[in-house]
Amino acid sequence: MTRMKVLSLLLLLYVAVSSAFPVAPEEDDEGKNINLVETYLQNFYNLQKDHRPHLRQGGKNHLAEKLKEMQEFFGLQVTGKPDRDTLEMMNKPRCGVPDVEQYVFTAGNPKWKKTNLTYRIVNYTRKMRQTDVDEAIQKALNVWSSVTPLTFQKIEDKIADIMISFAYRDHNDNSPFDGPDGLLAHAFQPGEGLGGDVHMDEEETWTKDGRGYNLFIVVAHELGHSLGLSHSNDPGALMYPNYAYTDPKEFRLPQDDIDGIQAIYGPSNDAVQPTGPTTPQACDPNLTFDAITTLRGEMIFFKGRYMLRKHPERSETELNFISLFWPNLPSGIQAAYENIERDEVLLFKGNGIRNSLFFLTSSFHNLCKLFDAVFQKDGYVYFFHKTTQFQFDPRTKRIVNQMKSISWFNC
Ligand SMILES: *[C@@H]1O[C@H](CO)[C@@H](O)[C@H](O)[C@H]1NC(C)=O
Ligand SMILES: *[C@@H]1O[C@H](CO)[C@@H](O)[C@H](O)[C@H]1NC(C)=O
Ligand SMILES: *[C@@H]1O[C@H](CO)[C@@H](O)[C@H](O)[C@H]1NC(C)=O
Ligand SMILES: [Zn+2]
Ligand SMILES: [Zn+2]
Repeated sequence: MTRMKVLSLLLLLYVAVSSAFPVAPEEDDEGKNINLVETYLQNFYNLQKDHRPHLRQGGKNHLAEKLKEMQEFFGLQVTGKPDRDTLEMMNKPRCGVPDVEQYVFTAGNPKWKKTNLTYRIVNYTRKMRQTDVDEAIQKALNVWSSVTPLTFQKIEDKIADIMISFAYRDHNDNSPFDGPDGLLAHAFQPGEGLGGDVHMDEEETWTKDGRGYNLFIVVAHELGHSLGLSHSNDPGALMYPNYAYTDPKEFRLPQDDIDGIQAIYGPSNDAVQPTGPTTPQACDPNLTFDAITTLRGEMIFFKGRYMLRKHPERSETELNFISLFWPNLPSGIQAAYENIERDEVLLFKGNGIRNSLFFLTSSFHNLCKLFDAVFQKDGYVYFFHKTTQFQFDPRTKRIVNQMKSISWFNC
């Protein structure tokens, strides 16, 4: 089969990576970074505002301790220093609720004492049609009511348990918003008064799709706080502090969040309990892959809506959403191939893919049906079958090695 012919069969998705793939950010000037680090740790890690890290040795150590706490939460290398990965993480748009419980005096998750809650949309954003806002909020409430005994009733006036509003900058709760990006929203744990309320930063570009910030995704996250959940360090969880877009039509509440909310309120009354997707862990010996490719010296392992990136000079494996780099791609990539000369990667999803890996000769077509993923590196071809991989030498046409699929990660 000629290469052209195979391509026309397979090419359902084609992505030029040239401009999409991120290059490491330049180091900013020191002063700006210190400021960012301090503000971030004050906001989310309970760093006291009055300490002076430049003047007092104790303060400096305190900052390093908080920094380590933050790095641990996000699964970064725990250095206690504001290194590149740490600064990159701190620059991501996120929820305004702290990652460590700061103002909580009771241990464990606070909860509503009743299951029939009321909510009210106090005012609307000007960025979206009112019906689209109603729909997004309704859908976000359903996320939680479908896995718990909770019900939500909409009221139009008076005080509801959950009051949802869009506000600018300082809005009288000691937690001002910051204009576009940065802080997107925050919410209060169950209780009287502000308790349960959701505040959205009106200066964000709220949308019903993948542009700007998706209202449904952010409200669904904030409602988790309204019901008593704190942040999760599972990067795939809805309750992870950083914003990550998922197409609302494809959204399924991750298992981590289901476990969290059911630990507070118990399962729903439905006979069949829904389960949710789990996040791939690089060192899970049972991990399998959808597709694998090299890309600009890194290796990219595709799995569901995630990609694991392994840089040869870095020990950790980075987990990202595919949508972070390719917002329009569906999840479940089936094959991937880097064209180094053209600085492109070809991603495939569709039927008939397994018996047509185009860089192999026809004698391997039947073999390929067995494999989940195949890629080429340094003159060898690696075939992945479930949790095992085979290293194949095309010159001798022999399998020269057999390893665990996760052998590329430092486990
Ligand atoms: C919720 O249920 C309680 C107890 O069944 C009832 O007293 C209360 O009126 C209900 N509230 C709403 C808003 O339906
Ligand atoms: C919406 O209501 C909240 C709470 O009353 C208020 O702080 C905010 O300014 C209002 N938003 C707009 C856009 O007027
Ligand atoms: C891997 O899968 C086996 C068989 O399904 C299971 O018994 C084992 O607990 C799994 N291991 C991990 C680490 O998930
Ligand atoms: Zn949050
Ligand atoms: Zn607020």
